[in-house]
Amino acid sequence: MSSLVCVGGQWGDEGKGKIIDALSANSDVVVRFQGGNNAGHTLVVGGQKFVLHLIPSGILHAQNRCVIGNGVVIDPEVLLQEIELLKKRGFLKDASQLMLSPHAHVIMPFHKRLDVAREKASGTRKIGTTGRGIGPAYEDKVARRGIRLFEILDRRRITTRLTDGFAHAGVVREEELPGMIDAVYRYGEHLKPYVADTGEFVSDALESGRRVLFEGAQGAMLDVDHGTYPYVTSSNCVAGQACIGSGVGPRHIRNVLMVAKAYTTRVGEGPFPTELHDTAGDELRHKGGEFGATTGRPRRCGWLDLVQLRHAVRIHGATELAITKLDILAGFEKLRVCVGYEIDGQTRRSFPWDEEEVARVKPVYEEHPGFTELPATAKSLRDLPSEAQRYIEMIADQLKVPIGIVSIGPARGQEMILRELF
Ligand code: IMP
Repeated sequence: MSSLVCVGGQWGDEGKGKIIDALSANSDVVVRFQGGNNAGHTLVVGGQKFVLHLIPSGILHAQNRCVIGNGVVIDPEVLLQEIELLKKRGFLKDASQLMLSPHAHVIMPFHKRLDVAREKASGTRKIGTTGRGIGPAYEDKVARRGIRLFEILDRRRITTRLTDGFAHAGVVREEELPGMIDAVYRYGEHLKPYVADTGEFVSDALESGRRVLFEGAQGAMLDVDHGTYPYVTSSNCVAGQACIGSGVGPRHIRNVLMVAKAYTTRVGEGPFPTELHDTAGDELRHKGGEFGATTGRPRRCGWLDLVQLRHAVRIHGATELAITKLDILAGFEKLRVCVGYEIDGQTRRSFPWDEEEVARVKPVYEEHPGFTELPATAKSLRDLPSEAQRYIEMIADQLKVPIGIVSIGPARGQEMILRELF
């Protein structure tokens, strides 16, 4: 049995897409298990940039079967666009490469409207959502009135679902319904060839010893239970969700690779203890290209936060770390790393449960010497300047988790795989 769950250790955008691309060169199956097209996984392959929102990043390696599990919410229009784009660029030649769970919930046009309208009306509790209808689709799922993918394959069922006891009549005009039913059914027809019993497929793959990579989206601090609630997304982003969102039991999961940037970023609202409002923050943003892959919004930037990461290691059960974008820190004279939180005069090392306390945190920093530009061809830690090596070793020591991968550039191959991960 060989499985690896790859998840984000911060507020998303840690560079998981690139890491998944590297690991999926040696995997057989890649599974998305939560979130939707709020995610944006950026990959640079052969000088070409790919941004994937729904289809697992493993699709760029032809031997992989890619699965969108039951825990994902699917916007069928966006998924079809992504399928077309990949086909145009020479990928996904064989339809059997992509499998969709019939139980994934569908993001309907009214979910997007509700998402945007609620944000407008939410005053100071604005979340800064991506406006893709993610929250309202998950709300309907939990309220037991969601529409699952297999239901849009049948015109009678969609019609019934959108007319009989339809919960969102207030945001959909009656005269819009026939057009909506038609559009959704057409999407369903195009997606039909990909719908299959993904839970059984993934379980069988694990039982027969194939290498299964679970691809998380967003990150620990956006998890609806363990993140900075209410400034979170509407799904569980922790590694445990890999089981629930794909239909396999926990005995199949052994290794959890937590991806973290060498510094911290966040998009949207909510507390962010190490956020920088100075030139160092601007430098990280511009050098790191820190603009949202989904919405284009500038990301908030700050120093690495070990209190936050320790929390993330615990909730994910991380067994290895991948540190990304180390190259972006090159050229800073001094690097600051948050080792404690001062709240109301008291210093603590655990992440507070009250978001108002998180907003009052004064970070306690430790300073580390900066390093010069990293050699683009580095293949092992020894090829890096000694200060960069020490920065990486410090993270592993502090978090008590070994480093599995260090990424030093956006292109394929600009990463060092330091341990066998499968
Ligand atoms: P939603 O997921 O669109 O409901 O947005 C909720 C919060 O999660 C907002 O702060 C978003 O900016 C954030 N978010 C959602 N998806 C991502 C992601 O893939 N990367 C980073 N932040 C995200």
